[in-house]
Formats: sequence, C-alpha cells, structure tokens
Amino acid sequence: MQLISTKICKTSDIGINDNLFGGMMLQWIDEAAGAMAASTCCTPNMITLKMDEVVFKKPVKVNQHIRIYGKVNHIGRTSISLTMEARRFDFEEHEESVVCSTKMLFVKIDKNGKASPINQEVCEKLRQKLK
Ligand SMILES: CC(C)(COP(=O)(O)OP(=O)(O)OC[C@H]1O[C@@H](n2cnc3c(N)ncnc32)[C@H](O)[C@@H]1OP(=O)(O)O)[C@@H](O)C(=O)NCCC(=O)NCCS
Repeated sequence: MQLISTKICKTSDIGINDNLFGGMMLQWIDEAAGAMAASTCCTPNMITLKMDEVVFKKPVKVNQHIRIYGKVNHIGRTSISLTMEARRFDFEEHEESVVCSTKMLFVKIDKNGKASPINQEVCEKLRQKLK
C-alpha cells in the first residue's frame, strides 16, 4: 500500500471518552482517498460515491500519529475503487497498528455533476499495472 497522508490527533479532534471522534477519522480517510483518486486518474473532478463498512478496531488518543495508506483495486469507465487503511504509529515500539480499513468508490464527474469517462490512456496504463 502507498502512504497518502499523516494526521496528528489534536485535542480539537477528540469526541467522548477521550478518543478520536470517529467522524473525524472518516473525514481524514475520505480526503486521503479523494487525493489518491484524483492523482491516479489525473483529474481533480473525482467525487465520493461509496464507502464500505468501517470498524474502529483501536482507539486513537491526543498526539498520536495516524498514517493513511491506499491501494487501487480496480478502474472502471467512470469510477475507481480503492482500499484505504488508517494505521496508528507507536513511536516507542516503532510499530504501526491498523485502526480501521475500508473500500471506497470514486466517480469522475463533468461540469454538470454527471459521471464522465476517465481518460482512456490513464485507464489502460493503470489496468496494465494492476495485472
Ligand atoms: C457520483 C454520481 C454523479 C454518480 O451518478 P450515477 O448516476 O450513480 O452514475 P452511474 O450510474 O453512471 O455510475 C457511475 C459509476 O459508479 C458505479 N456505481 C454506481 N453506483 C454504484 C454502487 N452502488 N456500487 C458500486 N458502484 C456503483 C457504476 O458502476 C459506474 O462505474 P463505471 O463507469 O466505472 O462502470 C452521483 O451518484 C452523485 O452525484 N452522487 C453524490 C456524490 C457526492 O456528493 N459525494 C460527496 C459525499 S455526500
């Protein structure tokens, strides 16, 4: 998987029980996935269509670093499917542990907000790479 972004859990990101607010984590993952979809498809006009189930397996506390990784699963005509994984980094152990992971689907849209084909050349190159 490819490292897309690193986030630091701040006091303003905390929900109840002193843990990172789950909605904040979803925002971080959506943003990282959107950036990956855009750079992979060579266009900023990618929109989130779908996010699969997310299970928060580990708590995140203030000052912890979250590394967000991504991987392309499939490229269609107008859409791209990604697997995203958020990992908590432990500086003392020098170890990452998975907080949550999910699959996401992004669609390229035109200026009217309708699904539109991803550049053919980009699609072909990516399909070759995924083989
Ligand atoms: C994204 C959007 C333009 C797609 O419109 P649509 O009418 O569903 O488009 P289509 O039916 O042509 O499908 C587009 C692609 O998505 C895929 N798709 C659509 N619904 C899907 C679903 N439920 N599961 C998996 N793939 C799906 C289609 O297979 C197609 O992929 P392909 O061209 O690579 O084969 C429209 O749903 C939308 O505007 N959604 C709101 C997005 C948004 O605002 N996101 C921010 C979060 S609120």
